[in-house]
Amino acid sequence: MNWDQLYHEQHTPWDKGHAAPPLLEWMEAHPGVMQGTVLVPGSGTGHDVRAIAASDASLTVVGLDLSPKAVELALAYPPAGSEHYETGDLFHLEGHHRGRYDWIWEHTCFCAIDPGQRDAYVTAVHEALKPEGNFLGVFYLNPYDEEHQEGEGPPHGTSTGELISRFVESGKFRLVEDYIPTRSYAGREGLELVLRMTKN
Ligand SMILES: C[S@@+](CC[C@H](N)C(=O)[O-])C[C@H]1O[C@@H](n2cnc3c(N)ncnc32)[C@H](O)[C@@H]1O
Repeated sequence: MNWDQLYHEQHTPWDKGHAAPPLLEWMEAHPGVMQGTVLVPGSGTGHDVRAIAASDASLTVVGLDLSPKAVELALAYPPAGSEHYETGDLFHLEGHHRGRYDWIWEHTCFCAIDPGQRDAYVTAVHEALKPEGNFLGVFYLNPYDEEHQEGEGPPHGTSTGELISRFVESGKFRLVEDYIPTRSYAGREGLELVLRMTKN
C-alpha cells in the first residue's frame, strides 16, 4: 500500500476532517486521566493528535506516520497544544520512541497494516510505552461499509477475540476497559470496539 501516493492524490476516504468521535467520547468521560506523553501511530493529517493536544495543555503528543505528505498536511494546521509530527515507520521505531510514552492512541492504523504484521504491531506499541503505560484504541471490527468493497482491504477487520488474543493473552497487556462506542463517524456506528489496556 503506497500511503504517501494516496495522500498526494488526495484519495483519503478515511480522513473525515475531524477527530475520531470515540476518542472525544472517551476523553469527555475520563477528564484528566490521560497524562504525560502520547503517541498516535499512523496519525495521518493529525486530527486526533490535535484533539488530544487541545484537551490538556500539559500533554505532549507525537503523531507518527509513514507518509511524508501526511505529515506535511498535518503540519499545515494551526497548533492545538504541545503536538509534534514525525515521519517514521512504527515497525522500525527509532530509539527515542522506545519506552517514551505514557499513552498510545490507536485509530485506523491497526486496520490499515497487513494483517500479517499484527503481532509486530503489538510488539512495537509495547516497546514504545513506558512500564505500566496505557494503550487506548478504537478498532474497526467490520469495516466493509459503503466506502469499501466487501472482502477487500485495507481496512482489514478484526474481532474482540483476535484483539484479546494478540494483546492480552500474549501476556503483553492487561485489559482495563472495553466497550462499543456510542459516538462514531457516520457509517461506522456499532462497527467499532474501544479497548484500554495497561502494559505488563
Ligand atoms: C487509514 S490511514 C488512517 C490515518 C488516520 N489515523 C486517520 O484516521 O485519518 C492509515 C495511516 O497509517 C499510516 N501507516 C501505515 N503503515 C504505517 C507504519 N508502518 N508506520 C506508521 N504509519 C503507518 C499511513 O500512512 C496512513 O496515514
